[in-house]
Amino acid sequence: MLKSTTEALMADERAKKHHVLADRLQRALTAVPVTPPALTTSTANGGNGREAIIEVQPQTRLDDLLLPLPVRENGRQLVEEHVRADVLRAHGYEARHRILLSGPPGNGKTSFAEGIAEALALPFFVVRYDALIGSYLGETNARLRRLFDYVRTQPSVLFFDEFDAIGKERGDTHETGEIKRVVSFLLMQLDQLPSYVVVIAATNHAELLDRAVWRRFQMRLAFPAPDRTQVEVFLDRIVANWPKFPRMPIQKIAAKLGMVSYAEALDFCQNVRRRHILGLGALEIDDALATELDLWSSRVRPEHLNAERSEQAAPVADEAIPARSSRRPAKSHPQA
Ligand SMILES: Nc1ncnc2c1ncn2[C@@H]1O[C@H](COP(=O)(O)OP(=O)(O)O)[C@@H](O)[C@H]1O
Ligand SMILES: [Mg+2]
Repeated sequence: MLKSTTEALMADERAKKHHVLADRLQRALTAVPVTPPALTTSTANGGNGREAIIEVQPQTRLDDLLLPLPVRENGRQLVEEHVRADVLRAHGYEARHRILLSGPPGNGKTSFAEGIAEALALPFFVVRYDALIGSYLGETNARLRRLFDYVRTQPSVLFFDEFDAIGKERGDTHETGEIKRVVSFLLMQLDQLPSYVVVIAATNHAELLDRAVWRRFQMRLAFPAPDRTQVEVFLDRIVANWPKFPRMPIQKIAAKLGMVSYAEALDFCQNVRRRHILGLGALEIDDALATELDLWSSRVRPEHLNAERSEQAAPVADEAIPARSSRRPAKSHPQA
């Protein structure tokens, strides 16, 4: 408790460019005799915690996204709580900082997380599971500890994509006891994180998350696939930037695309533009569109079934209670 309060103060002071004070707090904190678990890392086993993180430059702004109303409002609140964290703190409150995003691939989970980092002007850290999951007993926890030790040194947005991948059986780790230790260690770390680290976890399979995991998140947001009207609005926005408007009405294009994610609709539009551009004036936008619509109907869509399934299975509302099962084989979903 003392530790997280001091850390919050430190971040505050750094934000105000009071580095001397922040450094003094840092020294005082490291001198606290009862060292909390997060500071007991031995650096002997290598790495400074950054190896399991990639820093990504946010490309998306929240305003660029078409979001369901509750998601937009929650996003706005989240940003406000962090921008005005000092006001909250003066009244004994902390900004919420554990966010769960759920929904089928390609509908804005990653983009939303980036948008939050962009809006708060914070570094956007993406967790790399390949560098996190170790095959020796205790190795994953040691790496997790280093990771959390690193991120708590400064305000940031920490993004766990495919969050359900953690705690599932994988290649070398056959020991379920080890998996349980990893999950409970992760939960403990999440609980102990100072509020200036915004943890955003995304999953295509909210139903696979354990109840204990689910409870940890203060905000749970659903990113469903768009309905027909939303696809039309999205297409309209894209086509508005084309040099020429196609003759086919947007409604008809949307109808021909059928059930799509935003990412797929965007891909489709970009392909039409590619044809059009490479046509060097000899190809009308309508012909480029017709060609791509033909190809569209014959495409392979491996994630299509998954998208439909998760849509039925993942209504993220506060009262929804996910199933406890967590024993499905890890699956990777091609991201757009
Ligand atoms: N809600 C949305 N509004 C606008 N564009 C979107 C939306 N969702 C996805 N996209 C587009 O699709 C791309 C991939 O989406 P992404 O955020 O990676 O989806 P997810 O993480 O849910 O799989 C984004 O870069 C963006 O261009
Ligand atoms: Mg994503």
